[in-house]
Amino acid sequence: TRIYVPRDAAALAVGADAVAEALQRECEARGLAVELVRNGSRGLLWLETLVEVETAQGRVAYGPVQAADVAGLLDAGMLQGRPHALCHGLTEQIPYLARQERLTFARVGLIAPLSLRDYEAHGGWQGLKAAAAMAPEAVVQQVLDSGLRGRGGAAFPAGIKWKTVAAAKGTQKYIACNADEGDSGTFADRLLMEGDPFCLIEGMTIAGLAVGATQGYIYVRSEYPHAIATLNEAIARATAAGWLGRNVAGSGKAFALQVRVGAGSYVCGEETAMLESIEGKRGIVRAKPPLPAIEGLFGKPTVINNVITLATVPIIMARGAAFYQGYGMGRSRGTLPFQLAGNIARGGLVEKAFGLSLRELVEDFGGGTATGRPVKAIQVGGPLGSYVAPGDWDDPLDYEAYAAKGNVVGHGGLVVHDDSADMAQLARYAMEFCAIESCGKCTPCRIGSTRGVEVIDRITTNTGAAHAANVALLESLCDTMEGGSLCAMGGMTPYPVRSALRHYPQDFGIDSAQTV
Ligand code: NAI
Ligand code: SF4
Repeated sequence: TRIYVPRDAAALAVGADAVAEALQRECEARGLAVELVRNGSRGLLWLETLVEVETAQGRVAYGPVQAADVAGLLDAGMLQGRPHALCHGLTEQIPYLARQERLTFARVGLIAPLSLRDYEAHGGWQGLKAAAAMAPEAVVQQVLDSGLRGRGGAAFPAGIKWKTVAAAKGTQKYIACNADEGDSGTFADRLLMEGDPFCLIEGMTIAGLAVGATQGYIYVRSEYPHAIATLNEAIARATAAGWLGRNVAGSGKAFALQVRVGAGSYVCGEETAMLESIEGKRGIVRAKPPLPAIEGLFGKPTVINNVITLATVPIIMARGAAFYQGYGMGRSRGTLPFQLAGNIARGGLVEKAFGLSLRELVEDFGGGTATGRPVKAIQVGGPLGSYVAPGDWDDPLDYEAYAAKGNVVGHGGLVVHDDSADMAQLARYAMEFCAIESCGKCTPCRIGSTRGVEVIDRITTNTGAAHAANVALLESLCDTMEGGSLCAMGGMTPYPVRSALRHYPQDFGIDSAQTV
């Protein structure tokens, strides 16, 4: 019997290793022959450790399993897929998973992440094989036609970026993968890197062939030690198997990959600060232009894409641009891996085509708050994203529709708060976060964020005559930060602050009659 126990960091954090050891021990003691596979996470994080047993009908899920549950589960006939209080039936039929559209995450949680055999058996390398047989311009055109946009948050069309790099003059070009996933409540990059590392390698290699780059770097945050180890091992195995190296997939072209580890700075996720960091310097933002596509890493033309953007390329090349383009709405094509976090009953990863609403994500998938109290606020798109107005929770999630209301979809992270949240304190936190993480290059961000904390403190402690003046001062400060900052750090910190002020004025001591 084959049993799957995830080795993903989210599962390890709740005791997956102990569960795996207990299973091995108990089965040995009972003389049961089992093959234990350590897979990635299915992304149903509230069920971790999610143990799956392979049966004739398919994989049967048990979770959340703790080491102490193992003997009882075996007594109940887990190896035959029999019922138990922790049994959820066939994994693929769990509504949370069954209702998803998993394209980028098709293999995550299914396969043993470092098994080349598993990867190939589940459609791996087909995109690279197709790309290796095509003219580079045709590969760029496919990515352009698919409508794929940057999944790191800015949603810039990936094909246009690739085209710019392909056309740029330079004997050396680079592919730089941004795996600095610093947004609060986000973990899609990590789940992918730990659960299906060859998919990212394949996407980066296709990018290399398409734009004429021979070297790629994956910039991973230091907080992801498991992803770093998995990627390093996957790169070694892919190189040994001829998918990377001097003659990629028999194409006669070279492409090599290296992992670079960050040092705990949020702003190093900003693309130009990331380049500085990869070059071994302090992570300070560079002015643009020149765009990294023209003058990037070591001054050379560089494609910088997020993990999810690059990991989506293989399926586009394997299935064709029209297949991917067929998902989504408006100019937001394809799918986005949404990440449900914060105070939520069923946190995890939901890959769906654009067009569903926040309410569907938080209520239908997420099951409301973990505390069972009413949802008060949902921040979308990381610490620099807005708190979406409760009246807009039924709007379809789409880059343009969100932008029209001053919101961002960003990297697809949702952080949910119940009615005990104090929105003024959360706005203060946004300013404080900016003050801590600012690279210091420009004044509105470096100084403005510190003044922002002080003004919010004055607003929340002083309800007297100066109150309205302080609110006006906060608005003015937000204007300066938005208009005068060099990058999104200072430029977007006002988003959570202003949206909190606008949608929850009572938390700032403003009565509803007073306009904000
Ligand atoms: P941006 O809009 O300045 O640039 C987007 C990308 O397009 C960049 O790579 C830029 O170099 C490229 N680009 C722009 N014009 C181009 C052209 N004509 N040709 C070729 N390439 C071109 O946005 P930025 O500052 O890179 O990102 C901001 C976003 O990052 C925010 O919206 C936020 O959602 C997101 N973010 C994500 C985080 C995460 O953890 N994933 C953390 C913090 C912010
Ligand atoms: Fe640095 Fe902040 Fe200016 Fe960005 S906005 S360049 S993080 S000081």
